[in-house]
Amino acid sequence: MQGPIGIFDSGVGGTSIWKEIKKMLPHEDTIYLADSANAPYGEKSKEEILALSIKNTEFLIQQNCKMIVVACNTATTNAIDYLRANYGIPFIGIEPAIKPAALHTKTKKVGILATKGTLSSSLFHNTSKLFAEGITVIEQEGKGLVELIETGQINSVVTRGLLLSFLRPMLEQDIDCLVLGCTHYPYLIPLLKDILPEHITIIDSGEAVARQTKAILEKNGLLNPSDHEGQHVFYSNQEIEVLKNLVDDSNAQISYLDF
Ligand code: SIN
Repeated sequence: MQGPIGIFDSGVGGTSIWKEIKKMLPHEDTIYLADSANAPYGEKSKEEILALSIKNTEFLIQQNCKMIVVACNTATTNAIDYLRANYGIPFIGIEPAIKPAALHTKTKKVGILATKGTLSSSLFHNTSKLFAEGITVIEQEGKGLVELIETGQINSVVTRGLLLSFLRPMLEQDIDCLVLGCTHYPYLIPLLKDILPEHITIIDSGEAVARQTKAILEKNGLLNPSDHEGQHVFYSNQEIEVLKNLVDDSNAQISYLDF
């Protein structure tokens, strides 16, 4: 099937998911919507997150998208049930990778860095209860990180200082896995690797989401049969410079759109 895969996020962070999808599904076209003017979603009410997710979804459906990837943990935890129930196309969401972390940890202590909107959601609590029995999950709200990444500060002194203050309590409690529960945070991996002791494994959801996207396309007969290289279109309702830098693909079409 020829339609593009639609992807939306509260901003630029979901491009970490787009990169994995592009790698796994090189013949698929994509349209990415960065709602940066409304970032961060993590500080908004459930009603606001739902309303923004509906608006993004309807835009992508108008663009003929055959499937939508909600490339934002906060929007997934607060809106995906509604979207699945109300629109007739498949939706892929991003859930914090608690399960792989619970399987991997030896100290039985796992840290999770996510937004307030994700950590307070019932989907997150149910996932933790289901997959992390007997494991201590140390939750930390990454307040301020999304704003820094949205302004391109993925390696600044301020970002390092904030990360250090977030990670210290986890390190004191002997975590050996850190789950990145926000699609913006994979851009902090180089900085995290510099800060964290080597034995700590950083886990994010990107590759698993791409695998799931492929599986759902296959299951629904929606894979693009063409062998052309996928075309990638990006829209942002903010200044596009940071988005351009993170996408880092000279063939991608990236423009400002007032939506
Ligand atoms: C946010 O907009 O607050 C973060 C997005 C996410 O949770 O992935």
